[in-house]
Amino acid sequence: MCGIVGYIGKKKAEPILINGLLRLEYRGYDSAGIATMEAEGIKTIKNKGRVAGLLEIPETQKLEGTVGIAHTRWATHGKPTDINSHPHMDNQKTTAVVHNGIIENYVELKKFLNDNGYEFLSQTDTEVIPNLIHYYYEREVEKNEMAFLRSMAKAVKDLKGSFAIEVLNEDFKDKMFVIRKDSPLVIGKGEGENYISSDIPAILSFTKDFYLLDDYEFAVLSKDNIEFYDLELSKIFKQPKNITWDMSAAEKGDYADFMLKEIFEQPKSIRETIGARITKGVKTNLEELDFTKEYLNSLDRIYIVACGTAMHAGLAVRKIIEKYCRIQTEVDIASEFRYRNPLVTEKSLCIFISQSGETADTIAALKLAKAKGAKTIAISNVIGSSITNEADYSLYTHAGPEIAVASTKAYTSQIVLLAIIAIYFAELLDVAHDEIEELKSEILELPSKVEEVLRDTSKIKAFANRIFTEKNAFFIGRGIDSSVAMEGALKLKEISYIHSEAYAAGELKHGPIALIENGVTVVGIMTDEDLAPKTVSNLQEVITRGAKTFIVTNQELEHVTFDEVIRIPRISKYISPVLSVIPLQLLAYYISKEKGLDVDKPRNLAKSVTVE
Ligand code: F6R
Repeated sequence: MCGIVGYIGKKKAEPILINGLLRLEYRGYDSAGIATMEAEGIKTIKNKGRVAGLLEIPETQKLEGTVGIAHTRWATHGKPTDINSHPHMDNQKTTAVVHNGIIENYVELKKFLNDNGYEFLSQTDTEVIPNLIHYYYEREVEKNEMAFLRSMAKAVKDLKGSFAIEVLNEDFKDKMFVIRKDSPLVIGKGEGENYISSDIPAILSFTKDFYLLDDYEFAVLSKDNIEFYDLELSKIFKQPKNITWDMSAAEKGDYADFMLKEIFEQPKSIRETIGARITKGVKTNLEELDFTKEYLNSLDRIYIVACGTAMHAGLAVRKIIEKYCRIQTEVDIASEFRYRNPLVTEKSLCIFISQSGETADTIAALKLAKAKGAKTIAISNVIGSSITNEADYSLYTHAGPEIAVASTKAYTSQIVLLAIIAIYFAELLDVAHDEIEELKSEILELPSKVEEVLRDTSKIKAFANRIFTEKNAFFIGRGIDSSVAMEGALKLKEISYIHSEAYAAGELKHGPIALIENGVTVVGIMTDEDLAPKTVSNLQEVITRGAKTFIVTNQELEHVTFDEVIRIPRISKYISPVLSVIPLQLLAYYISKEKGLDVDKPRNLAKSVTVE
């Protein structure tokens, strides 16, 4: 979960690379480094800490090369130190490599290389790559581009794990070599210049035409040309994809932070997710899916599998599928699913949700489900992401780039898209016609209702100001509201570092209530009129024990006094998480700001988790 960027063209590479790295910092910010091809050879500059630190090193400004690679790191193997920072070079300092991913067999490869006289400066897994390439290239009789590619192919065949790799070699001063497997890498095509990046937004200001590499595909870039090869070095032909996002989608604009911008973008992102997918009175036709009533009737189960916030989106929609389609639906954490030998069969439908489309556990879970014969659907926000390459069917949320590490607009778009899929199923099954029509109307009203929730945030900000120094917080709800409680607690802990836990409200008295003492904050979510009175009783139990309460609701709650009540518009309980989560996103945001933390880049986290 590092970020890599590359440039080859006529301009000085350094500012372009630094600009790209700054945009990729959400992927990791333990260290940063850059290598450019200078007249005297490859020059690398790297340091522990943020990308901005590179600019303080006087040598950085002196880099004149027009070909370069760069890296921002989320440390896995080896502490965040200058030495462990990328780029890494081979012992002869002829080949420079930046790498995103993990080389699982690096210990074995290091031993092999050690036995062949190679030494290692860093504790990283990556350092084996330039040395392995060197090892094979040394054994080539003729030193030409094909021989170098062959050496790279041999080295890559030795690697187990995941990688997106950029390589510079001194013999090919006007070339750049890249290859990927299970880690993201996109190639931006320019005029007389070409770009590499871990994601599209980082280089969107330079080009809108992108090539996406499949696993084990090479690209050899020069300023005017890009050639593609498979692992056996046969040439392949690729068409660029034109990306229609406008650049402002990847800029903060007038907002202080990406997270705030993304929270406020939700009316728009939800509108984009809905697109033309549903229309009142017309049967939903998801062009990406070709299911039939018979197929849906044959299903033994639906599994929704994801990690973190994406898994919470799955929890939020399980009930819609079960209520309207009457198909048993299970929601699983990908890292658990893949190791619990799930009872997936050819009659199962497995839906995998991943904003980035690169989460290692979710991809592995998808591969497992496929191996067991299930049909698989990927839901992602990133076009061409790894998960969409693996799945039988892919649907995009179209929420636009999500840059802040804490996911907000992706969550609400995932819920909306899953609800639309549930509607598509219900219509195929020919059930609950009137209720489904009603649900469609409510989905179409979501963007304006989200606008309403966002109109006045002052009470949320004031409550954040009241509790930001606290150490613990609890989030409770019943039914669908309990899944929102989980998301609210996750948002708060990840960006404010306040210990926060979510409980199904009825569970409190089975243990957690022992933690309630004078002044502790309890957040209650109530959008289900049948369950709200019960949650109110649970809230009274904590108020009696001294808790401060922050309530998000669209119910009339009489005879109880809470410390703060945030009213949200009435909506079907099945899609209420799209509204009720917003005050919780804002609460976490304002608390983090009050504490003076880096909201967009919380400690120890990275946006896409490409390790197990
Ligand atoms: C929390 C958050 C994470 C991600 C999780 C899955 O705010 O962003 O919990 O939801 O890492 O990421 P994706 O959706 O990219 O698979």
